[in-house]
Amino acid sequence: MNAALFKSLQGIEERMRENLHSDVPLVHLIAEHLLSGGGKRIRPLLVILSARLCGYHRADLLDLASAVEFIHTASLLHDDVVDDSALRRGRASANSVWGNEASVLVGDFLFARSFSILVRFGNPRIMEILSGATEIMAEGEVLQLAGLQDPSSGIDHYLRVVRCKTAALMAAACRCGAVLGGVDAEGEAALEGFGLELGMAFQFVDDLLDYAGSEEEFGKAQGGDLSEGKLTLPLLQALRRAEPEERSSIQGIIARENKSSADFQRVFSFIERHDGFGAARNSARQRVEEAKNRLRIFADSPEKKELLDLADFLMERRC
Ligand code: IPE
Ligand code: IPE
Ligand code: MG
Ligand code: MG
Repeated sequence: MNAALFKSLQGIEERMRENLHSDVPLVHLIAEHLLSGGGKRIRPLLVILSARLCGYHRADLLDLASAVEFIHTASLLHDDVVDDSALRRGRASANSVWGNEASVLVGDFLFARSFSILVRFGNPRIMEILSGATEIMAEGEVLQLAGLQDPSSGIDHYLRVVRCKTAALMAAACRCGAVLGGVDAEGEAALEGFGLELGMAFQFVDDLLDYAGSEEEFGKAQGGDLSEGKLTLPLLQALRRAEPEERSSIQGIIARENKSSADFQRVFSFIERHDGFGAARNSARQRVEEAKNRLRIFADSPEKKELLDLADFLMERRC
C-alpha cells in the first residue's frame, strides 16, 4: 500500500470517530466497540480509490468514506441480531454483550448518522446512490431470511441475495467515486461494475471461510451458515452435482433445527466429495477477473493498481 493511501486510511479512522459523536453513552459505547474491533475498511477504501482514480482529491472524501462505513457497520449490527451471531471482528458481538434491543437501536442510529453526513455532504446524486444501495441491502437480508432452510432455493436465489446484501454497497461505493470525479457514463458504469463483481467474489470467499476458515483469523464463528440453515455457494454447488438420493438425505440434515457435530462433518465431507469448495473458489476467481477487466478503460495510475491489488487480495484473504 502506498504512503498516501495509508495516510488516508488513518484519516478515515479519525474522521469516523469525529462523525460518530453522540451524547448518549450507550450509543457511543456500542459504536466504539465495533469500530475499535478493527474491520478491513474495504468500503471506505473503495470510495477513496475510485474517487482519486477519477481525479477527485478533496478532503471531504473522508466524510463520504465514513458514511459508507457506518452504513456497513449498521448492517453488521442488525445482521448479527438476525443471525444470532456471538462473534464479530474477533470479539464478542454487540448483541451478545448488550442484547438485541440495544444492537438494533444503535444500528438505527448509525444508519441515521450516515444519512446526516450525506445531507451535509450535499450531493444529491451521491445521496440517491447510497440511499438506493441501503434499500437494496435491506431487501437482500429479507430475501435471505425468506429463503432460509428452503431446500428449493437454489443458486439463482443465492446470487440474488449476495448481489443485494453485499455487492450493492460495494458497487455504490465505487460509483460514488466516479460521480465525484465527474467521469462520463461509461466510466461510472465501469466502476460500478467493478464494485459489483468484487462484492460478489467477496461474499463467495466469505462463505468459503465460514466453512473452512480459522475462527481466530476470520474473527467470526465457523459453521454459522449451516447452523442457521443458510445454503451458500459451496453447499449449493455440491447439491447441484449430487445424485437425487444423496441430495435429499443432505437436505434432511440442513432442515434440522439443531445440528450435531456429526451433521456438520457429514455436510462438510459431502461438499468436499463433490468439490463444492473448489467450484465456489472458481466462481470467486472468475468474478475477480471480471472486476479487474471492468477497469481496463482507465489509464494506468497508482489508484488503479491499488484497486486491482485489492481485488487480488480478496481471493487470498483469511479474515
Ligand atoms: C462482513 O464484511 C459482511 C459481509 C459482507 C460478508 P467485512 O468482511 O468487510 O467486514 P469487516 O468490516 O472487515 O469486519
Ligand atoms: C453479510 O451477511 C451482509 C450484511 C451484513 C448485510 P452475512 O450474515 O453473510 O455476513 P457475516 O458472515 O455475518 O459477516
Ligand atoms: Mg451474519
Ligand atoms: Mg446474515
